[in-house]
Amino acid sequence: MPTPEENPVLNFFNHAVGAPPLAALRPFLAQLPDSFWMPTQASTNAGEVDTVFFIIYWISVFFFAIIVGLMALFVVRYRRRKPGDEAGEAPTHSNTLEITWTVIPIVISLVLFVLGFKSYMNISTPPRNAYEISVTGQKWQWFFTYPNGFISEELHVPVDRPVKLVMTSEDVIHSLWIPAFRVKKDVVPGRYTRTWFQAKDPGTYPLLCTEYCGTGHSDMLTVVTVHESGRFETWMEKAANLYDTMPPAEAGEMLVQRKGCVQCHSLDGAAGIGPSFQEMYGHTFQTTDGQSVVSDENYIRESILDPMASVIAGYEPVMPTFAGKLKDKEITYIITYLKSISSLGGLEEEDATAEETDSESDATATEVD
Ligand code: CUA
Repeated sequence: MPTPEENPVLNFFNHAVGAPPLAALRPFLAQLPDSFWMPTQASTNAGEVDTVFFIIYWISVFFFAIIVGLMALFVVRYRRRKPGDEAGEAPTHSNTLEITWTVIPIVISLVLFVLGFKSYMNISTPPRNAYEISVTGQKWQWFFTYPNGFISEELHVPVDRPVKLVMTSEDVIHSLWIPAFRVKKDVVPGRYTRTWFQAKDPGTYPLLCTEYCGTGHSDMLTVVTVHESGRFETWMEKAANLYDTMPPAEAGEMLVQRKGCVQCHSLDGAAGIGPSFQEMYGHTFQTTDGQSVVSDENYIRESILDPMASVIAGYEPVMPTFAGKLKDKEITYIITYLKSISSLGGLEEEDATAEETDSESDATATEVD
């Protein structure tokens, strides 16, 4: 929560409604600014960013009022009063006026430039001791990799400690935005961008993609959790071992949900951008280059790590690789889960493929033709 001194809007309301008759409104108005004008200022940089914003804002309001006010005044004052009124003498040149309206804007622009540049440099320059987290954006999910190799789909950070984000993209340009921290930076394929923040208050804040990146752009919405002091390490320890504490098929199900697989692969046989996970394991499929493949452990593993190696016919080659985002153990959990939702999952592999090859490949071949 912002304190009144930090929040210009709340501050303004507090002054404006300080008088006794209006004071009753204060509890109501105190709730407004968090969502009404600006999000909570939850990072150490937020105040500075807002200050620059409000300076520009109020300068704009000031000039808007002067210009529109004078315009309205002149329209009324110098209107044509009766038909046939001739226009009077117009001023042609005034050195004083021209120097004034040149010098004042230059000074204002310079002040804005210096303020903006200072806060921009501050946001772009992480402190040396910052805790580093790698960020990967891909259609349509964020991955956060911590120094110990643990990967999460939501961002977790300690409170009161500078955190540096080193970001890149697997495919198109995404943009990471944490409104409460006033952090917004493009995430670009083939290059690393960085930004940093220091969270002030434990809590959960929205984190989203703010660069249109395709159909699932609006799905790139997650949260950043700021852990209380000392709790971050505890969380990390638990989270890093979470999947190992569950039955493998359940761990696999949680992984396909959390890693975003289900955005393209349904779990109930429904059509999607990619083939459904139901009845995937053990069946035989035609690939786009005319081969037929059995969707066994090795094929699934290959499809996760090198999705372009053999694409099932009828689907676009659009899947990003998950190499480096899933551990071997996690891939095994996912395979176990796929077995659990396939009628061939529990069968002897040899028999299953022999039986299925004919009927399946016929069916696929017909579809493809
Ligand atoms: Cu990623 Cu929009």
